[in-house]
Amino acid sequence: MKVLSVVGARPQFIKAAVVSRALRAAPDTREILLHTGQHYDDNMSQIFFDELDIPRPDVNLGIGGGIHGQNTGRMIEAIEAVLLAERPNWVLVYGDTDRTLAGALDAVKLHIPIAHVKAGLRSFNRRMPEEINRVLTDHAADLLFAPTETALANLKREGLPAERIVLVGDVMYDAGLYYSAKATKHSRILATLDLPPRSYILATVHRAENTDDPRRLRAIFQALDQVAREMPVVLPLHPRTEKALRSAGMLEEAGRHIRLLEPVGYLDMVMLEKNARLIVTDSGGVQKEAFFHRVPCVTLRTETEWVELVETGWNVLAPPTSAAVIRQRILESIDRRGNEVSLYGDGRAAQKIVSYLREFHSNG
Ligand code: UD1
Ligand code: UDP
Repeated sequence: MKVLSVVGARPQFIKAAVVSRALRAAPDTREILLHTGQHYDDNMSQIFFDELDIPRPDVNLGIGGGIHGQNTGRMIEAIEAVLLAERPNWVLVYGDTDRTLAGALDAVKLHIPIAHVKAGLRSFNRRMPEEINRVLTDHAADLLFAPTETALANLKREGLPAERIVLVGDVMYDAGLYYSAKATKHSRILATLDLPPRSYILATVHRAENTDDPRRLRAIFQALDQVAREMPVVLPLHPRTEKALRSAGMLEEAGRHIRLLEPVGYLDMVMLEKNARLIVTDSGGVQKEAFFHRVPCVTLRTETEWVELVETGWNVLAPPTSAAVIRQRILESIDRRGNEVSLYGDGRAAQKIVSYLREFHSNG
């Protein structure tokens, strides 16, 4: 069985790390790893391949840095050429980025079966580019790997055939379990930053709807700035957010009290997450990782795809429109605990994905 995996962005490298390992351990299975090049800085890409032992990509398209339509168009053209040359048995796509959709569109037109990891997530906010990417990819896919019961229900409600959908758990949870001990062993970030455990808030901001709306960007950074005067706030800065702050003339002000860092590698990130008193984020992955480490989380969005985190009390939404509301949510959430529940599977999602790929392949 030949599987062509399409990755390109930071969260996809982390997911691919665990799935690639399982694929390469399976008999009669070959993976071709295609990196589209969307994330290209060393600290957004290469560091993950090095730290997480992800095999070197077989193909790197080097398509990054452009605007949406330009990038997606170039990727559709380039991925098609690779699929025609390789003719894999499966195209494996992850999540909801533009390359997820590009890979799916190419494969469906060439009649190559598509498997979608992290299928069925919905924010019901059609202004998010990710929401459009996920819906279209799910409807093109042949095998849908849902991470949660909610995702499974979303897919069924949209009329997708039950025989195409399997609930496997979340590969991010597999990664969290696998790398947590490694992070403790190898990461020196707390000492480097002189941060005692539970003494600081960890924050990340990168969603387009927050960075590209100056009102939201200002509200978020004003709130974090106010909180940072009382407790350290550490924020590894995504390149999109750095650009947005710079062009709004807010970068210097943002760094006055908040400790802005370059993006960090996954092991350092896990270490920062595990030892934070609270996490404030608009990232999908980081919301869940907060829960994996049982750290309360405030999500800088009006809705989340990971509704079970809110329902169980681990996560609180803070609509990012008012600095006062964000600050209040942060202060209320410190030391909050949610219910002790298991939400994302048993840490074996990647192995299950590989078993299903093999089973569906051999059943034709
Ligand atoms: C993308 C995904 C988003 C995902 C996020 C993970 C889409 C539509 N969005 O958003 O769903 O949550 O990745 O981080 O696919 N840049 C650099 N260096 C890099 C990478 C990006 O400077 O290594 C710059 C780009 O030039 C661009 C900006 O950051 O100006 C945004 O990057 P882009 O790849 O467009 O999307 P993300 O915001 O990273
Ligand atoms: N992450 C990281 N370094 C950072 C910020 C995030 O390793 O500086 C990891 C984080 O732990 C999570 C993933 O990147 O596993 C989340 O990616 P991101 O927030 O970019 O995207 P999203 O999950 O929102 O799609």
